[in-house]
Amino acid sequence: MVKVLFVCLGNICRSPSAEGVFRKLVTDQGLGEYIQIDSAGTHAYHVGSPPDERARAAALQRGIDMSGLRGRQVDEGDFYLFDYILAMDRDNEYNLQQICPPDHETKLRLFMDYADNWNEREVPDPYYGGHAGFERVLDMIEDAAAGLLEDIRKNHL
Ligand code: 4NP
Repeated sequence: MVKVLFVCLGNICRSPSAEGVFRKLVTDQGLGEYIQIDSAGTHAYHVGSPPDERARAAALQRGIDMSGLRGRQVDEGDFYLFDYILAMDRDNEYNLQQICPPDHETKLRLFMDYADNWNEREVPDPYYGGHAGFERVLDMIEDAAAGLLEDIRKNHL
C-alpha cells in the first residue's frame, strides 16, 4: 500500500481538492486498493470543517464529491505513516520541514514537481479570490495528479 498525504494551509481548499482529484484518478484506473489518500492543513483554523463550498462546487462540476471530507491538522506522526507528503506551496513546505523527523525529508515534495504542463511550482491559495481561482487550482491539480500517479506506478506498483 502506497500512502499519499496532500497538505495546504487550511485543509479546506487546495489539499482536499487534490485528495478528491487524485482519488478519482486512482479509482478510475482500478488502483484504489493499492493507494491510500488523505489531506491535512499546516494550521488548525478549519479542523473538523468540510471543504470550502466554492471548492466543493468546482470539484462537483468535475464529478468529484468532497462533501464527506473534514479538515484536520498535519502532525509529526504523519511522516511515519505516509510515503508521499506533498505541499501545495513553499510556505506549506517550510512549515512541514519544521516538524519533519530526521530521515523522513525525502518524503516531502512540492506537489507541482509532478506536473508536466505547468511551470509554476506552487498551487496558489484561492481562498480570498473568485471562482476562476478555484478552476485554475483544479486544472493545476489534475496535471500534477497524473504525474504523481505515473511516479507511483514506476516506483511502487
Ligand atoms: P487552503 O486555503 O490552504 O487551500 O485550504 C485556505 C483556507 C483558509 C484560509 C487560508 C487559506 N484561512 O486563512 O482561513
